[in-house]
Amino acid sequence: MKFQEIKHIMVLTGAGISAESGIKTFRDENGLWENHEITEVASPEGFLKNPALVQRFYNARREQLKEVHPNAAHKALAALEKEVPKLTLITQNVDDLHERAGSKNVFHMHGELNKIRNIKTGEVKYTTEAIIEKDFSHWRPDIVWFGEMIKHAEQIEKAAQNCDLFLCIGTSNNVYPAAAIVHRALDVGAICIELNLEETPLSSFYHKSIHGRAGSIVPKFTNELMTNSFQLK
Ligand code: APR
Repeated sequence: MKFQEIKHIMVLTGAGISAESGIKTFRDENGLWENHEITEVASPEGFLKNPALVQRFYNARREQLKEVHPNAAHKALAALEKEVPKLTLITQNVDDLHERAGSKNVFHMHGELNKIRNIKTGEVKYTTEAIIEKDFSHWRPDIVWFGEMIKHAEQIEKAAQNCDLFLCIGTSNNVYPAAAIVHRALDVGAICIELNLEETPLSSFYHKSIHGRAGSIVPKFTNELMTNSFQLK
């Protein structure tokens, strides 16, 4: 297949694409996220047990966004989007680096750091500021915690059903339903390519698995794709 024949690229990204921007991944060597057990700070139980800890944890994550910047991988995807009829970018990440790199059609299936949700009314509003102590019992991060429903399930299903090329970038493919998207893409005959620092449990399902740091392998791949020097199939 030639690049010019591609009508719809679906991309799934994970924490690995933001690692070189300075945002910690979830399952690094000691399996902690900023020195916390993930379930302690990213689950409804954890929030119930210690709302102040969870609010402060996400306030720190939101604050950190002001010091980090999109890297070459985010920028390469934003450039690629301009060269195809359609690119649907599904991210597990809650940072805003894809948007700041210029990507337009972005869906955050696990929510966004810069959105908070009213616990009573469900109202969601955009903020880059901390949730302050007096609001701890009214507002929570609009983040999808373990055991909660993902966002944009419909868009994800629709994109997987009609993409010609599925790129999975910077995710350990440990968490579902994100990890299962490849099976939907394979069902419709899409070419599936994984780009990650290392092998994942699902690497064998992909037509090709490219290993390395996203900041180098993603721009290299998108350039080869756009100049037809990457053998798609
Ligand atoms: N370039 C490319 N890949 C990288 C880089 C890098 N510079 N650094 C790390 N990686 C890879 C790791 O090898 C790992 O496979 O990125 C992946 C990150 O995996 P996780 O830390 O598990 O993050 P992710 O897959 O996004 O987690 C999914 O789990 O905790 C929940 O909701 C949270 O969205 C998150 C979900």
